[in-house]
Amino acid sequence: MPSVLFVCLGNICRSPLAEGIFRHVVQAAGREADFVIESAGTGGWHQGDPPDPRSIDIARKHGIDISAQRARQIRASDFDTFDLMVAMDADNLRTLRGQKPSDAKAKLRMLLESPQRNVPDPYYGGPDGFELVYQLVLEGCTDLLRHYP
Ligand code: 4NP
Repeated sequence: MPSVLFVCLGNICRSPLAEGIFRHVVQAAGREADFVIESAGTGGWHQGDPPDPRSIDIARKHGIDISAQRARQIRASDFDTFDLMVAMDADNLRTLRGQKPSDAKAKLRMLLESPQRNVPDPYYGGPDGFELVYQLVLEGCTDLLRHYP
């Protein structure tokens, strides 16, 4: 069963949305039994926290409930537990590359690969940033599912 871990910096804004949106897209395709889907942050400052209220709101506006998610930091075992670790931006990807043990199984990639772009960190911006994150993550998650025919 494919297992996917979405990764950002804090695991309260972008990657919880990616976890919720990918689960939603997978469910809409009738394939919820096919995937293990989680999210985590490269940093641990928000460990145990729910998603940022702005992420909860933008998800709810689009019919997705992410309020029960809780933030956690990536751990060494993730690199063997997950087949794929999907970074929201190039900084996150660099961090993952630096921490991945050379014999670990996980493949690492950016969420947006064609063309390769960052999902911009919305934490210090306004509400428009969260709608942009939603749209970019939806694009990336829709694309990602096509990799699993
Ligand atoms: P995220 O956004 O990486 O999309 O969850 C951030 C959340 C918190 C912080 C930075 C980015 N922070 O510095 O606390």
